[in-house]
Amino acid sequence: MKVIVSDSYEEMSKKAADLFKSLLVEKPQSKLGLATGSTPVGLYENLVKAQKDGEISFHWAKSVNLDEYVGIDPKNEQSYQYFMDENLFNKVNIKKENTHLPKADTNDEKYAKEYDKVLDEMGPRDIQILGLGNNGHIAFNEPADKLNKRTSIVKLTDETIKANSRFFKSEEDVPKYAISMGMADAFNAKTIIVLASGKNKFDAVKKIIEDDKIDTNFPASLLHLHPNCYLFVDKEAYEG
Ligand code: F6R
Repeated sequence: MKVIVSDSYEEMSKKAADLFKSLLVEKPQSKLGLATGSTPVGLYENLVKAQKDGEISFHWAKSVNLDEYVGIDPKNEQSYQYFMDENLFNKVNIKKENTHLPKADTNDEKYAKEYDKVLDEMGPRDIQILGLGNNGHIAFNEPADKLNKRTSIVKLTDETIKANSRFFKSEEDVPKYAISMGMADAFNAKTIIVLASGKNKFDAVKKIIEDDKIDTNFPASLLHLHPNCYLFVDKEAYEG
């Protein structure tokens, strides 16, 4: 794993965007794995600007997203579909039909199987963006003795519900379930770009760097198994 430390969130976002841009220029038909959450917002801003400036184009790119809340309307401002539309898809020249997010109206695992089909048709990603949960979750693969290989309906932990409540009116409004790509698919990419920013990510970043064990109860530790993984952190996440 390569660890790139930046002084600020802005610098971290720019450095991660520079790597993303160089990969997309090298392969315009890249298959992209995308994440939501507050951390990649700056990265997406840089990519939007780069496309406006003619540095990159998403014309031939295809994308899949990691996860979505169960039972949420895509037009709901808290849905990950809305987030992606607002932060990237509506602002760049990616073809909407080439973008995919998992969707589940209920907890029925049939929705997970449907998304696995989308992932199988697309094949391995060229670039995968990942955020880092405070508890080390990857996508919504929460710490557990066994982790899902493929897409599943997952119950969010109290910790994640609490962390995500900042986007909702109250903790009660946070959906309790999500549909999430499994670990095998989240890591099925030539290059993984992980982003972590701010003091509240320090414990997780410290654990990734310091701990020499691979532990399913800290899913981010599995990143060490990937041959081409970049961890972009700002100073607050790196030093605490
Ligand atoms: C989002 C996702 C989550 C987030 C993680 C960090 O698609 O899969 O794993 O990456 O919860 O979220 P932020 O960036 O909001 O701290």
